[in-house]
Amino acid sequence: MLTRTKRDYLTLRGLSRQELDMLLDRSLRFKESRRRVRRDDVLAGKAVAMVFEKPSLRTRVSFEVAVQELGGIVSFLEEGQVQPGKREAFLDMARTLERYADGLVLRTFSHAIQERVAQAVQIPVINALSESSHPCQGLADLLAIKEALGGLDGVKLAFLGDGNNVAKTLMEACCRYKIDFRLASPKAFFPDSEFLESLKPEMAGTMVLTESLEEALEGADIVYTDVWVSMGKEPEKELRRRIFLKYQLNLKTLRLAKPNAKVMHCLPAVRGEEITSEVLDSPCSIVFDQAENRLHTTKALLEFFLANRP
Ligand code: CP
Repeated sequence: MLTRTKRDYLTLRGLSRQELDMLLDRSLRFKESRRRVRRDDVLAGKAVAMVFEKPSLRTRVSFEVAVQELGGIVSFLEEGQVQPGKREAFLDMARTLERYADGLVLRTFSHAIQERVAQAVQIPVINALSESSHPCQGLADLLAIKEALGGLDGVKLAFLGDGNNVAKTLMEACCRYKIDFRLASPKAFFPDSEFLESLKPEMAGTMVLTESLEEALEGADIVYTDVWVSMGKEPEKELRRRIFLKYQLNLKTLRLAKPNAKVMHCLPAVRGEEITSEVLDSPCSIVFDQAENRLHTTKALLEFFLANRP
């Protein structure tokens, strides 16, 4: 009989600062130990099911490798195979998978469906991206910043472009760390007011939303950007390309930040749109450290949410 003592990871705010600190330390230990040995038995006897409605490289591979290196079994199910909501109801699929697996990793368009699944099943649900949140990416980003700058409190982070799920997740990090977050974006692409209001009672850092690149970038230690056309926004492609052009991260815009500022991007990138190759491939870029960290932080998340359950 399964117990109800489970936790889900649907947003970065699902974790306290103490838990985030612990997971970052644990991720670093996984990173360090992988240089010597790749096998662990943290997930021995555990199975993880992954259901993705959208394409993925980093999230899929980092989860598959992480589960296997931790001694577990992983089953990846593409949208075309399972057809949640078409072949069968999303909740029926989830309630079936919980009978086989010890954890459910979901990449969906809708965030609400992940909340409903988390309510309906007795195994932990991990959000591998939804329209409003990308908490697995967020943890890897925090690790990359900590490694590059030595800490998180006091960091000035400028995000250029769409106030999307990645931007929102970084804003949630301001609820746990004293990060000075500044979004440079056209007003129409600021995150919704309901989300912004929900952050206020928990804010540890500060947040500025501005249309001015100069205001966002002044004194920035980190300059972060993401694609202008997120998955699902393809019908707005031409409009977005026009609107976001002035927020492109190129050598000229990078000069508005601190001289030694680091550049971040969650990938995949559209070179020549939101970021130029000169910047992405420059010594300032920690983009591939972020990508690598997806593996180490995923191990820490799997251990935390799945390993110690009956
Ligand atoms: N950053 C990220 O989530 O990459 P994928 O979409 O390739 O998984």
